[in-house]
Amino acid sequence: MTENSIVLSEVKGRVALLTINRPEALNALNIAVQKKMVELLKQHDQDSNISCIVITGSAKAFAAGADIKEMANKSASEMAELDFFAGWREVSTIRTPIIAAVSGYALGGGCELAMACDLVVAGESAKFGQPEIKLGIMPGMGGSQRLTKLVGRSKAMELILTGRNFTAAEAEAMGLVARIFPDAELLDKAMELASTIAGYGKHAVRAAKEAVNRAEEVSLHEGLLFERRLFHALFATHDQKEGMAAFSEKRTAKFTNS
Ligand code: CAA
Repeated sequence: MTENSIVLSEVKGRVALLTINRPEALNALNIAVQKKMVELLKQHDQDSNISCIVITGSAKAFAAGADIKEMANKSASEMAELDFFAGWREVSTIRTPIIAAVSGYALGGGCELAMACDLVVAGESAKFGQPEIKLGIMPGMGGSQRLTKLVGRSKAMELILTGRNFTAAEAEAMGLVARIFPDAELLDKAMELASTIAGYGKHAVRAAKEAVNRAEEVSLHEGLLFERRLFHALFATHDQKEGMAAFSEKRTAKFTNS
């Protein structure tokens, strides 16, 4: 494990666990966190021994938003010049599945980072929200787009225009959260989920991730064509032959990511 870093990185089997580590600021996402997070995500994405990534937060937050103090005195031209938050776009270029394990606050940029991951699991007392409106701003790390796609226009409007927090149960009911676990079990359960995914063939997992994410971008017709091309391509892998042979031979498949 990397010690004293703003993002801790630990590898367990084929799963990389990244922990945002600014507990004194409730893991507020400053530029240093963004750079380190993206650097580690890219590093693990290139590592043939890693098949799933979990992102979580230290102490009592996933992340309480972008760092308000870092932004407060910037001018519009500085924000534009820096293309502030653009670095977070890199999260969606990662091919390895990313699970957000949310305990405590996931507000503003924290909620937006969770939604940029492939699936979100939450502790039962997690609190989500897009409170930017209360600061005289609006979501800027994808919230107006990803939340709307996830929960629909009406609900997204209500949440973004009121800035109210919402519970893990509400987030699950809206489709933002995939699973809720007791707070004390969250990390173990997230790692278990990640290990299950990491146990399957890497080519199939990456292709499935890509196809599901493509559904948000293209028409149904284009999406179905894209899915079928990827599906056909998987028949070039050893893992497809192994997976289907194992089924016929009534044994557990041994995937080799080839
Ligand atoms: N940025 C910078 N610092 C933050 C922060 C943030 N987003 N959230 C919390 N902190 C800091 C606090 O300033 C405080 O630091 P000090 O001890 O130095 O004062 C420390 O973390 C602990 O926070 P609190 O004392 O406020 O803790 P609390 O338990 O009383 O309240 C909270 C928790 C309700 C989450 C409260 O901290 C809060 O409202 N935070 C801001 C939430 C927010 O507005 N997030 C959106 C940010 S803007 C954004 O994200 C834009 C975007 O689209 C990307």
